Amino acid sequence: MKIFTTREALQKHLLLTRAANKTIGLVPTMGALHQGHLSLIKQAKDHDDEIVCTIFVNPTQFNDPKDLEKYPRTIEADIQMLEQANCDVLFNPDEKEMYDGNEQWHLDIGQLENLLEGKFRPGHYQGVTQIVYKLFTLVKPDTAFFGQKDYQQCLVISKMVELLKIPVKLIMCPIKREPDGLAMSSRNIHLTPDNHHHALILSTTLNWVKSNFDHGKITTLKKTAESMISNEPGIELEYFEIVDGDTLLPAVEDSKKIVALVAARAGKTRLIDNVILSPKS
Ligand code: PAJ
Repeated sequence: MKIFTTREALQKHLLLTRAANKTIGLVPTMGALHQGHLSLIKQAKDHDDEIVCTIFVNPTQFNDPKDLEKYPRTIEADIQMLEQANCDVLFNPDEKEMYDGNEQWHLDIGQLENLLEGKFRPGHYQGVTQIVYKLFTLVKPDTAFFGQKDYQQCLVISKMVELLKIPVKLIMCPIKREPDGLAMSSRNIHLTPDNHHHALILSTTLNWVKSNFDHGKITTLKKTAESMISNEPGIELEYFEIVDGDTLLPAVEDSKKIVALVAARAGKTRLIDNVILSPKS
């Protein structure tokens, strides 16, 4: 695997890739890689000729400086995992390579950035669109791969691509889970065994809602799900919503796609998860 830390070196290399008529698949990450990230690399490898994975803990998307400080950084282990997954290129820049220290701009992508995660993490999606825009213009990928784990992030990026007419195909990859159901996340490192045990209520509740889903029962399902999670010791619910999968507004009778999304804290660790309720997969 080739490793680049500067934009210039990466761009030079990608010129050769394009000259060889190879397609480029991009997998942006913040590192502390796990099997969820690797599943994105695998899908990318099945789809494109050359895979660029980026590892950059993007400061502008953290609204809590403590969260940024304690975000896990495991670059040596990450490199090994990427080598094993046959990733072709790793781009691992430092902060000044990506930001000049004085950038005030952000993209206005409308109300999507202020709902759900946006409400609990103000400014988060401005940081996400900033860095993903920079990565898209730098790498110019044919395809970019994102996880359904961050469902709202997928919508936000897809809105940005649509608004700015960026020529890239987006692929949303399924959520990878631990054998016990917990959605994999870099933040799971911070869970104590006890936190982990109680956090299972998130996937249990989502599965229960999925098995009992019926358009007519949305309000009751939401209420029951909220109390299932709130009654779990050590878990602090932020939101549980059943929404239209395109707008993230409350689901309506003719919503083509309906998604249940949850955010909660297990101890000090913030977790998110979701499930697509309709159309049934
Ligand atoms: P990060 O949290 O490292 O996630 C990188 C990618 O992996 C995202 O697309 C995320 O949805 C996906 N992912 C995380 N957990 C997953 C799981 N359990 N199963 C499948 N995919 C999973 O998301 C970010 O980084 C950042 O916001 C980023 C897009 C890199 C911009 O900084």
